[in-house]
Amino acid sequence: MNVLGIETSCDETSAAVVTNGTNVRSCIIASSRDAFSLSGGVIPEHAAREQIRSIQPVIDQALTQAGITPEDIDLIAVTRGPGLLGSLLVGSVTARVLAALWKKPLIGVHHTLGHLSSTWLSVPDPPQFPMLTLSASGGHTELWLRTSHVHGKLLGQTRDDAAGEAFDKGASMLSLPYPGGPSISQAGELGNPLAFPFPHPLSGEETLDFSYSGLKTALKYTLRDLPPAQHAERVADLAASFEHAICAHLIDRVSRALCHHGDVREVHVVGGVSANRRLRTMLSDVCGDRPVRFPIQLLYCTDNAAMIAAAATFLMQERPHETIHTFETAASLPSETVFFFQ
Ligand code: KG4
Ligand code: ZN
Repeated sequence: MNVLGIETSCDETSAAVVTNGTNVRSCIIASSRDAFSLSGGVIPEHAAREQIRSIQPVIDQALTQAGITPEDIDLIAVTRGPGLLGSLLVGSVTARVLAALWKKPLIGVHHTLGHLSSTWLSVPDPPQFPMLTLSASGGHTELWLRTSHVHGKLLGQTRDDAAGEAFDKGASMLSLPYPGGPSISQAGELGNPLAFPFPHPLSGEETLDFSYSGLKTALKYTLRDLPPAQHAERVADLAASFEHAICAHLIDRVSRALCHHGDVREVHVVGGVSANRRLRTMLSDVCGDRPVRFPIQLLYCTDNAAMIAAAATFLMQERPHETIHTFETAASLPSETVFFFQ
């Protein structure tokens, strides 16, 4: 099955052709993120205008690179939410128009289901259920116990900021460019991760939920109490310690969940934060001999259309009779709707 995926939930415009959910024949990503490097975050109206400029060339390039014509497409899949409404609408309106013109079925995919499916892209050996999947990006931080592509239990989620959001806000406080994850990692590469003792969020509670607003406030007070002359010279230690604290909280949840769910066969980490090198190193220590998987390429960690095409393929395979081809595009979509079309 050849699926044309389209993903436009934030500041990336992406189109991809994926065969049978794993064979990525093309994955084109145009990003307007450089325009936001100094603003500390995405400006929604600006991002939507960039989506309009990029969407058609990106789709054309995806088809050309895959070496196929619209006749070869079996299904069109588009992100239905959550995300920035203007950006989402550019993708979904385009997908609806193409589906009507080319007479192809169309389905809307929850953005998180895309991330959850990203560990299947370009891998020779398919992952084994049940698995524990940590999904951490700029918009969400969740821990899932998955028994199939369409069945899973949400074990925990953030009560306030997402992990990627903590990186982005922390970078802004440290005067580092957006997106904060890569810039904090780079700034902290030679820093001491234990130089500044940041708190352990929700440490007194028996929960698998996450919380990042306290860490953000702790960084704010640390900076307030540090003589201004030291801000620049201690930035490596500050960045390394803040990054370590964010990762330690994620790792703690994975480790606790593994204690409760001994039947888990693999541990997966997806979403933009899964690109983090410190997180990858720290995680291998708590997973024992269980395989730990990250998306096989860094471009599959952050937003991309290949993961949306893969998710649509698996939904069609596991729920062939329940496929709903009408859907609403929405900026907010609860996690409970991740496995459903509608
Ligand atoms: O999944 P994604 O591309 O978009 C959303 O769905 O939000 O994730 C973007 C987030 C940003 O907050 C960015 O700072 C973070 O992922 N990120 C990273 C890294 N690369 C991107 N965080 C930590 N380390 C990285 N290397
Ligand atoms: Zn995402």
